[in-house]
Amino acid sequence: MRLYPLLLLLVSNSSSIRPVIAAAAAGAPVTMLIAYPATPVFNSTYYLANHVPAVAAAWAPYGLTGYRALQSQTAAGSAGDPYVMVFEAEWPDMDAVNDMLTQTPAEEKQRFEEDEKRFTDKAPVVWFMGVGAQG
Ligand SMILES: *[C@@H]1O[C@H](CO)[C@@H](O)[C@H](O)[C@H]1NC(C)=O
Repeated sequence: MRLYPLLLLLVSNSSSIRPVIAAAAAGAPVTMLIAYPATPVFNSTYYLANHVPAVAAAWAPYGLTGYRALQSQTAAGSAGDPYVMVFEAEWPDMDAVNDMLTQTPAEEKQRFEEDEKRFTDKAPVVWFMGVGAQG
């Protein structure tokens, strides 16, 4: 199985830009996970009503095949869950992800970065996974 070349994804937050390295099998479906750490200021209402639809619309042209926003069942910032929200974005393969990352206009990335500040003060953790098994 050929491994997709290492991919450098710049994930920004209000204070810094950090690289995330991802590798996945070529041609295999990939799930992009965006996990938002629990914080008292996380605004789920804004996130679900504004950010999610905007991201889904922006990624559709690059082949996004589906998504789910999984919501913590405890209040944001309460003890227990490490993440208040986990966004699962389904991609046909890593090539589609690469297209999204390299072809999304800088202004659009900037707009999402600014929007992020409207619902959280903690940068999300982003990573990619492939299916190992499923039932
Ligand atoms: C969360 O977002 C909603 C929708 O934009 C807004 O009406 C509400 O005032 C926000 N809540 C807080 C605490 O900022």
